[in-house]
Amino acid sequence: MSPTCRILAIETSCDETSAAVVENGTVVRSNVVSSQVQVHRQYGGVVPEIASRKHVESITWIIEEALRQAGVGRSELSAVAVTQGPGLVGSLIVGLVAAKTVAAALDIPLIGVHHIAGHIYANRLVRELEYPLVALVVSGGHTELVHVPEPGVFRILGQTRDDAAGEAFDKVARALGLPYPGGPHIDRLAAEADVPVPLPRYWLESATYVFRSRGLKSAVLALINQAKMKGDVVNRAGVARGFQEAVIEVLVGKTLRAARETGARQVVLAGGVAANRGLRERLAAGCREEGFPLVVPPAEYCTDNAAMIAAAAYLKWEKKSFSPLDIKAEPVMKLEAW
Ligand code: KG4
Ligand code: ZN
Repeated sequence: MSPTCRILAIETSCDETSAAVVENGTVVRSNVVSSQVQVHRQYGGVVPEIASRKHVESITWIIEEALRQAGVGRSELSAVAVTQGPGLVGSLIVGLVAAKTVAAALDIPLIGVHHIAGHIYANRLVRELEYPLVALVVSGGHTELVHVPEPGVFRILGQTRDDAAGEAFDKVARALGLPYPGGPHIDRLAAEADVPVPLPRYWLESATYVFRSRGLKSAVLALINQAKMKGDVVNRAGVARGFQEAVIEVLVGKTLRAARETGARQVVLAGGVAANRGLRERLAAGCREEGFPLVVPPAEYCTDNAAMIAAAAYLKWEKKSFSPLDIKAEPVMKLEAW
């Protein structure tokens, strides 16, 4: 039996500072996440400069805490993994400097990881993956349909032309007077509505895998403004449900078509919006009807966390594909070339 591989992973691409220890790519010994959301909430979104400073304040104790909770000594670590991109450059640099320092001090390999590869491989923490698979990635910065023909190989089938799904949730939530980040609040409100307010579906030629959310967002804003001008009370729950259903129908429809066309043996869901209950239910129902096994990570592995970075890093560990100590933060990074 090969010796246990223990990866310490670090994730600081946006507004969560996280460190985790994962064994053999699947056994999470610790996954410590410190969210800065309370700090950014007053500004209605992430302020990059503040995010970097907060990462600097917490990165050291988060790493210490991840090791303590895992009950793993420094000498037992096999490698250190870190999110190299995409993300906020100042935030990424904090994680990279910490990871390089650990790698150099302990003389263990450094593994740079693509953030979206991490979101997709969060699913490996739940179940063995079967290839080819199709991943629907929906986060604050991404809406992407990804074909994964074999482990660690990514082919983007289509993505958003404007706002990412999470961004759209956050903007609509803001218009409804809900706090940042708005996704979970829309999710909760939508569940309270008996009927959705009807809203258009933006299929953008249903034969493509391109997404666009701006038209839907404008329709929601127009609806809210009209109600306000007439002095009507905005049916917030109905709007939340109508918006959520419009987003979900397009996401699920295109995902199922991608699964059919690529002969997928599994469909996996990834990214912060994967925590959305409506999306999970609709995708599960669609996959059941068409016979595609669906893997969905638990909510704590959907939003940004370091365990998912370790899960993706394990693919590179197996191939001994290590990163030099002079790798740079890549705010824009191609998934195909990760
Ligand atoms: O993946 P993530 O944690 O960070 C990025 O890499 O962007 O995603 C954050 C996004 C936010 O836009 C947040 O509103 C959204 O995920 N989100 C949700 C839910 N939970 C988080 N959106 C809809 N429903 C949810 N339950
Ligand atoms: Zn993310």
